[in-house]
Amino acid sequence: TVASLRELAHDAAASRVGLGAFNVIHLEHATMFCAAAEEAARPVVLQISENAVKYHGALEPILAGTLAVARASSAPVVVHLDHAESPNLVRQAVELGVQSVMYDGSHLPDDENRAMTAELAAFCHDRGVSIEAELGEVGGKNGVHAPGARTDPGDAARFVEATGVDLLAVAVGSSHAMSTRDAVLDLELIARLREAVPVPLVLHGSSGVSDEGMQAAIRAGMTKINVSTHVNKVFTETIRTWLDEHPGVVDSRKYFTAASTAVVVEVARLLRLYAS
Ligand code: G3H
Ligand code: ZN
Repeated sequence: TVASLRELAHDAAASRVGLGAFNVIHLEHATMFCAAAEEAARPVVLQISENAVKYHGALEPILAGTLAVARASSAPVVVHLDHAESPNLVRQAVELGVQSVMYDGSHLPDDENRAMTAELAAFCHDRGVSIEAELGEVGGKNGVHAPGARTDPGDAARFVEATGVDLLAVAVGSSHAMSTRDAVLDLELIARLREAVPVPLVLHGSSGVSDEGMQAAIRAGMTKINVSTHVNKVFTETIRTWLDEHPGVVDSRKYFTAASTAVVVEVARLLRLYAS
């Protein structure tokens, strides 16, 4: 059943647990993440990034399918537009029925990011949709790593105040698209951000963080935990092994089922970990 990101994130922040958010690249991912949420008895965020929209050639088909899967699930599910740099894509997603969006203006000068984020926040709120924004660019997008980027707590508080966003993505040491889990997060900065910022905080690039690192980050104050690359890794490595072991099979449903099963187990494990 679909749920509000603003409400789920507030509840999670109040009880200092993490809310898992996983990227839907293929429609099967929506089914896997809902199955994992049901198994773990946790809510989940299904996110479709602007890059995934480019891959599919359009937003509507993948979003309509994802919404249908979310509505059919017994778990609370948010369908979310992730990393949209295009304001028009944000407006289109809202019109097509998402529960929340992330407008990513972090590549812009702060004043331009602030103005566009505020405009889109008003648009979303008029339609009952939650909005996440980003201040201080998290590294690793488009293959460009900026491991030193950090969000200043005072700037973050002023940005939330000026824009009215419901959640804020902050740069605290993670970097997108890491295939090793050895990122070192700045826990002291997370605690200062949690203190200064009145809305739940979002960790991007969570694939690079170990289980223990994630538990510490959640304890320090991170709430929405965005994971994509780690799921890709589990899915693809399972298929690679499976095809080696079954050289004669051509039915894609066979290896998708093997990979999906592995993803459901791992995502359910992560959802439990974030809540423990
Ligand atoms: O917005 C999505 C996330 O930040 C995913 O990052 O692929 O490094 O886990 P990741
Ligand atoms: Zn991200």
